Amino acid sequence: MATTRLAIDAHEIRRQFPFFQPHPEMRSVIYLDNAATTQKPYAVIEAVSHFWAYQNANVHRGGHGAGAKASALYEAARECVAKFLNAREPAEIVFTRGTTEAINLVASSWGETFVRAGDEIIVTEMEHHANLLPWMRLAEKQGATLRVWRITDDGRLDLDALRALLTERTRLVAVVHISNVLGTVNPVAEICRIAHEAGARCLVDAAQSIAHMPVDVQAIDCDFLAFSGHKAYGPTGIGVLYAKRALLEEMPPYQVGGGMVRIVSWERRQWAEPPAKFEAGTPPIGEAVGLHAALDFIDSLGREAIAAYEHELTEYALRRLQEVPGLRLHGPVPDRAGIFAFTLEDIHPHDIATVLDTRDVAIRSGLHCAHPLGERLGGATARASLAVYNDTSHIDALVEALHTTRKVFGYA
Ligand code: ALA
Repeated sequence: MATTRLAIDAHEIRRQFPFFQPHPEMRSVIYLDNAATTQKPYAVIEAVSHFWAYQNANVHRGGHGAGAKASALYEAARECVAKFLNAREPAEIVFTRGTTEAINLVASSWGETFVRAGDEIIVTEMEHHANLLPWMRLAEKQGATLRVWRITDDGRLDLDALRALLTERTRLVAVVHISNVLGTVNPVAEICRIAHEAGARCLVDAAQSIAHMPVDVQAIDCDFLAFSGHKAYGPTGIGVLYAKRALLEEMPPYQVGGGMVRIVSWERRQWAEPPAKFEAGTPPIGEAVGLHAALDFIDSLGREAIAAYEHELTEYALRRLQEVPGLRLHGPVPDRAGIFAFTLEDIHPHDIATVLDTRDVAIRSGLHCAHPLGERLGGATARASLAVYNDTSHIDALVEALHTTRKVFGYA
C-alpha cells in the first residue's frame, strides 16, 4: 500500500493500469523493470485502440475527411510533445521509432555532414548502446576520434574531466540524462553550457528521465534530445528527436521516400521543411496518438509530484537495500534516480532474477545494453527500477525476495 505524504497515490494509480488488475491469463507480479519498459494505462490503450478502430487513415496525403482527422491527431501529438519539452515550436519535434532511431538519425544526418576527419566526439562511460554505437560508427566512418569521459568511482561525471577533454576539434558531447544502470542524474544543463563554451554541440539521451522528472529543452539548452514512448507509459514504436530548428534546417534527410519531399522530377528534388524532411514514409500514427495520451497521463499526475514521490521511494529503497547482507549497489548514494543495479554475494545476477521471479518480483539482469560500463563495474548486475505506480510494499517484497535468494544459495 502506498505510504506517501505527497500528492501521488501509487495504489490509486495502479487502478489505471490493466497490467495490475487480476486476470485469468496473468500472474500478478511486482513490476520493477521500468527502465526496460513501463506498463501502459487504460487511457493509452484506449486512445490507440480507438484510433485503429475509428480514426485510422494515412496522414498528410488523402483529401478525404478521415485523412484530415488523422493528420490533425498526428500533429496534435507533435504539439503535445513540443509543450511537454518546452520546445520553441512543434517543428523542432521529429517522430522516430524510439531513442535509438533518433540518435542514429543525428549521427547519420548531422554527424556525416559536420563531423570531419580529425574531429572529436565525447561520450560518457555510462552510455547505453543507443548513445554509444552510433558515435563509434560515425567516428570510424569519418576518421574522427571518440573520447571517453570516464565516470568517478561513485558513478558520477566530473565536470572538470569534461573541461580537460574538450578541444577546438570537439564537435559533440553525447550524454545520458539518467543512467539506465547507475541511476545517476547528470547535470545536463551545466554539461551543455560547458560544451557550448568550447564550440561543441550537446545531445542528451532522455530515455530514462522523461517519465520521471521535468525535462525542459530550453532550460537545458541542448542541441538534440531523444526519448522513447514506451519508457513513458506510451506505446513501443514511437520516439522523439528534439533538435533546434536551425540544426534541422541545415541537416540533410536521414531517409528518403514519401512525405518528406516537395518536388521530385528526374532532374531534381526539393526536400520538405522540418520536421517532415525527417519523416519519410508513413509515420507511426497510432503510436503518436498513444504517446499523446501517455504524456497527458504523466501531466495529469504532475511531473514535479512524480519526481518528489519517486525521490522519496528511492530514499526508502536505498535504506532497505542496505539491510541485505552481501548486497553491493552501484551508482551514487544518496543523490540518484530510482534505478538500482547491484550484485548479491557471488550469486550470478541471472540467478538472482530467476529466484526473484519465483517470488513474483520482476527485475532485469545482465549488462543492460551498456557493455563498456558493465566492464568498468566488473560484469553483469541485477537491476530493479521504479515507476510512479510502485510503492514501499514493492521495495519490501524485493528485499524479502533477496533474503530468500541468499538462503537458496546457502548464505546464512
Ligand atoms: N534501455 C533499456 C534498459 O535499460 C532497454 O533496460
